[in-house]
Amino acid sequence: MASYDLSGTAAWSALRDGHQTLAATTLRELFAADPERGTRLTADAVELHLDYSKHLVTDSTVEALVALAEEAGLAEKIAAMFAGEHINLTEDRAVLHTALRLPRDASLVVDGQDVVADVHEVLDRMAEFSEKVRSGAWTGHSGKKITTVVNIGIGGSDLGPVMAYEALRDYADRGIECRFVSNIDPTDVYEKVHGVDFESTLFIVASKTFGTQETLTNARTARQWLVEAYAGDESAVAKHFVAVSTNAEKVADFGIDTANMFGFWDWVGGRYSFDSAVGLALMLSIGDDGFRQMLDGFHQMDEHFRTTPFAQNVPVLMGLLNVWYNNFFGTGSHAVLPYSQYLNRFPAYLQQLTMESNGKSVRLDGTPVTDATAGGFAGQTGEIFWGEPGTNGQHAFYQLLHQGTKMTPADFIGFALPNHDLGEMHDLFMSNFFAQTAALAFGKTAEEVAADGTPAEIVHHKVMPGNRPTSTILAEKLTPSVLGQLVALYEHITFTQSVVWGINAFDQWGVELGKVMANQLAPKLTSSEAPAKDSDASTDALIERYRAFRGR
Ligand code: F6P
Repeated sequence: MASYDLSGTAAWSALRDGHQTLAATTLRELFAADPERGTRLTADAVELHLDYSKHLVTDSTVEALVALAEEAGLAEKIAAMFAGEHINLTEDRAVLHTALRLPRDASLVVDGQDVVADVHEVLDRMAEFSEKVRSGAWTGHSGKKITTVVNIGIGGSDLGPVMAYEALRDYADRGIECRFVSNIDPTDVYEKVHGVDFESTLFIVASKTFGTQETLTNARTARQWLVEAYAGDESAVAKHFVAVSTNAEKVADFGIDTANMFGFWDWVGGRYSFDSAVGLALMLSIGDDGFRQMLDGFHQMDEHFRTTPFAQNVPVLMGLLNVWYNNFFGTGSHAVLPYSQYLNRFPAYLQQLTMESNGKSVRLDGTPVTDATAGGFAGQTGEIFWGEPGTNGQHAFYQLLHQGTKMTPADFIGFALPNHDLGEMHDLFMSNFFAQTAALAFGKTAEEVAADGTPAEIVHHKVMPGNRPTSTILAEKLTPSVLGQLVALYEHITFTQSVVWGINAFDQWGVELGKVMANQLAPKLTSSEAPAKDSDASTDALIERYRAFRGR
C-alpha cells in the first residue's frame, strides 16, 4: 500500500460496506426509522449551525469517516499546519493563513521569526492608511477626497476581496465605491475605470508575486491613464497608487514607492490571502473595526477546527462528507447555494479555494491517486464547485438537482435575520431555503403525485426522486465575523479533504504551463511577418484565422 493510500484500511472497508447498504436505502427510510436524526446529526461551530441529517449516512458511517480521518493522520497534519511546519512540500513552505488572524497577544515563531508581530504591524499600517483615506486626510494629488478604489489583481488577489466587499456591503462606508479589475481582456479595465474621476481614485495593485501578467498589464494601463489625466505629471502616481505584495523589489521596479506598499509573506497562499493586506480594499470599505471583527470570526473557526473532536468538528465533518460522496458515490460536483444576495460571489471564490487547492492527481509522495493497486480507491480528488445564490438558482439549474440523473451534494447557507427587513420578504425567501432541502431529500412518490389528481400519463414526469443529499448551514445574521467563520470553514474543509486524499492543497503547478505557452504564442499573434507554423495543427490554423480577422 502506498503511504498515502487509505484504501487498504479498516475504515475504508467499513465505508465500502456501508455504501452498499446506504446506496440501497432512502432518506425517507432513514428518517422514518430514526426521527431523532434531524436534531442528532447536527453540530455547531462558533455561530454556524450545521444540519447534516439530510445526508445518506448513519451513525456508523460518521464513525467510519472519523476513523478514516484518524488513519490519515489529520490530527497531526492540523497540528503541523498551525505550528508552521513546511507542509507545502513542493514549495518547501509553511502554510500559515491561520496566523493572519491570531490575536495581537498570541505568539508564533516560525523559521526564527515572530509572525504575529509581523502580521499586526501590517494590520496597523493598513488601519492607519484606511483611516486617513476614509476621513479624507489622505487625498489625491490635487487634494480631492478618495471616493473610488480600484483593486487590480487576479485569482486570490481579486476573488477574495471582491467576494468579501460584496458580502459586507451593509457594513460599508457608502462614500467609497470599490471596483475590481482582474481579467487581461482589455474590456475589463476599460469598463471598470470608465467614467472615474482620476483625481479622487485610488488604485491598489495587489499581487503576491508582482509578476502576474494580467495584473501588471492592467496596472500599467491604469497608471498611464492617471498620468494623462494629470497632463503628464508623473508625481501624481504616489498619491493614487499603492501596492500589496510579498515582493518589494518588483513593486519598486514598477514605480510604486515601497512606503506605499503593504506586505505579506510567502507562507500565505494567494487563495488563502484576503485576510492579509490583500484585503486592503475591503478594509477601506468596512473600516478597521469591521475588518478585525472578520479576523476574529476566522480565528474562532480556526480554534474550533484545531481543538474540537472530529465527530463534532464542523469543517472535518463536512470535508469527510465530501470524501464520502466523491469517492464512494462517484459524485463529481458540489453545489454551494447561499441564500443571501450579498454572498453572490461566494461560489466563485470557493472555486479557486477548493479547485486550485485540491485539483491534484498525485499524492504527496508522488504516486498517482489513481493507483488502485491497494484495492479499490476510486482515485478521484477535487470536486467541481459551483453555485448561485438562492432563489436565482432555483429558477435556473435546480431542475437538474431535483430530477436529473446525477447526484450533486449541495450546501445551503442561510441566515435568520435579514440585513434589510422589507415586509415579509425575508420569511418568504427563507421558506424557499427550507423547502428546497426537504424536497431534495424526500421528493414526491408516484402515489403522492397521482393523489393530487395528476393524469396517469403525466405522473412519471412529476415524480421527485428525492434522496439528494444536502448540508444546511444556518446562522443568525451575515456579519463580518460570520463571513470570517464561513471562509475559514471552507478553508478547513478543503484541507481535511486534501489530507484524506494525501495531496498537497497548497501548490498550483497546473496553472503554469498555460502561462508559459501564452507568452510563447503572443509574438505569433502580433508579428508583422506570417509566423512559423510550428505549434500543433489546430493552434496554427486558429492563429492564422485570428490574424486574418486582425488584418495581419
Ligand atoms: O494563476 C495562479 C495564481 O498563482 C493564483 O494562485 C494566484 O492567486 C494568482 O495566480 C495571482 O497571483 P499573484 O497574486 O501573485 O498576482
